[in-house]
Amino acid sequence: MGELAASRVVILDFGSQYTQVIARRVRECQVLSQILRFDASAEEIAALRPSGIILSGGPASVYGKGAPQPDTEIFKLGVPVLGVCYGMQLMAHHLGGKVEHSERREYGSSLLRVNSNCELFHNLPEVLDIWNSHADKLTKIPRGFRAIATTENSPFAAIEHPKHRFYGLQFHPEVVHTPRGKDILANFVYRICGCKMDWTMGSFIDQACAEVQQQVGTDHVILGLSGGVDSSVAAALLHKAIGDQLTCVFVNNGLLRSNEAETVQRVFGDNFHVKLKYVDASARFLSSLRGITDPERKRKVIGRDFVRVFEEAVVQLTRAKGGRSKGSAKSPDSRPTFRFLAQGTLYPDVIESVAIDGNPAAMIKSHHNVGGLPKRMKLKLVEPLRQLFKDEVREVGAQLGLPKEIVQRQPFPGPGLAVRILGEITRERLRILRDADAIVVGEMKASDWYYRVWQSFAVLLPVRSVGVMGDERTYENTIALRIVESQDGMTADWVRLPYDLLARISTRIINEVKGVNRVCYDISSKPPATIEWE
Ligand code: XMP
Repeated sequence: MGELAASRVVILDFGSQYTQVIARRVRECQVLSQILRFDASAEEIAALRPSGIILSGGPASVYGKGAPQPDTEIFKLGVPVLGVCYGMQLMAHHLGGKVEHSERREYGSSLLRVNSNCELFHNLPEVLDIWNSHADKLTKIPRGFRAIATTENSPFAAIEHPKHRFYGLQFHPEVVHTPRGKDILANFVYRICGCKMDWTMGSFIDQACAEVQQQVGTDHVILGLSGGVDSSVAAALLHKAIGDQLTCVFVNNGLLRSNEAETVQRVFGDNFHVKLKYVDASARFLSSLRGITDPERKRKVIGRDFVRVFEEAVVQLTRAKGGRSKGSAKSPDSRPTFRFLAQGTLYPDVIESVAIDGNPAAMIKSHHNVGGLPKRMKLKLVEPLRQLFKDEVREVGAQLGLPKEIVQRQPFPGPGLAVRILGEITRERLRILRDADAIVVGEMKASDWYYRVWQSFAVLLPVRSVGVMGDERTYENTIALRIVESQDGMTADWVRLPYDLLARISTRIINEVKGVNRVCYDISSKPPATIEWE
């Protein structure tokens, strides 16, 4: 196991949606960050020997009933503290300042004027773009503090207690709308806390493995492997941590792209020697989907079948009660009992599924993460990627030796090609879409555009149109191309792909895919359209 980092910043989470972003910014400084609950005791924090503490923002008001409060002993640990937004208000409130409710909520961009020489703004210009999101504001700073920056609305936009090395920022340095925020946090981490750059993704892997080993002990873990980035990286990580205590189940639902099942079996079964149960349930899914055209019903049927197939697979893999296998009264059953279900949940999944009510993302994730399974099967969850963002997960995957075709893979929906075939799903229509999609992916990869876009795929429409091929009239299917750029899938725009690449894709599909005589390019953004067509 590699060296664990010596510098560490503890982040107390007061419920901000940006807490994980702060943690990420600290990781970007190559410093270990650890998020703890807001009420972690000063003793517990001191035991971690942090170089600094960051108090996150949060939606509460310091005076509010039930407002999350820290253990105030943390201010006596002799460790630098940075309070962000609510975190700053808390610090001021507990150290003798005054926080008041303001009628005018300050939200959005504004200009910060730095008016003193201070370590936090070292090497930064005097005027900075910043991003605010607060209602309460500081009206009196505690003794020993001084204001180091102001905004039009606030004389105390940033404060400092130089002796104790306590700092407060009324705005959010962690968000991208504060463009130099990273430098402010870097100044805190390096100049004020004295951290060294001694943390890498390699140390993340070591740390995560140690945590999984501790959580799981000698028990067995089951993981639903989809071949997507998240579950693949989770599988590789767990395999490194607990080897054969991990079993992966890969369900072929018959709705996969071409070669997908083969790739997963090759990479995980042959290369990584992961215990992999491959279940070909395509006939079952296709039979359940027969005659169904409504998008929501398709999703429901697929979700339901998936849970059943997965459960059946786990039952088959599990030791019979009493520890003896059927038909063999003498030999003990070597099959394990699974106590844990591993999932490749990422940080954005956590926010999307809790924060955005009514957004399909919530539903997406519950299916994607085999929602309901842990409860039904009485399994405990293992989620080693929970604190990471997608690009960090890709880096972890690459470091674990996963090939680029998996690590850099575009997102693919759980219900697979079913939501890209409008109308009924049949074997023939799946064949058409799969062949067309393979051409899209192949041409995008060959021109290197595949890795520059969020998603690029084909959709089969329930529309036939007249064409002419040779001397003959044709009456065939239509393929739509959906190629979008996006940061997170929540909003998206269509990619202005070069015409010659579009022409090549179109010509190849029409020439090579039997049953298609027309290709269209989808030029809708999200919103109002969605990325998938169903
Ligand atoms: P939409 O179509 O809602 O998609 O704009 C946003 C992103 O989510 C993916 N997606 C899904 N992922 N299960 C998933 O795991 C699903 O049911 C699902 N539906 C959409 C989609 O590919 C895009 O990246």
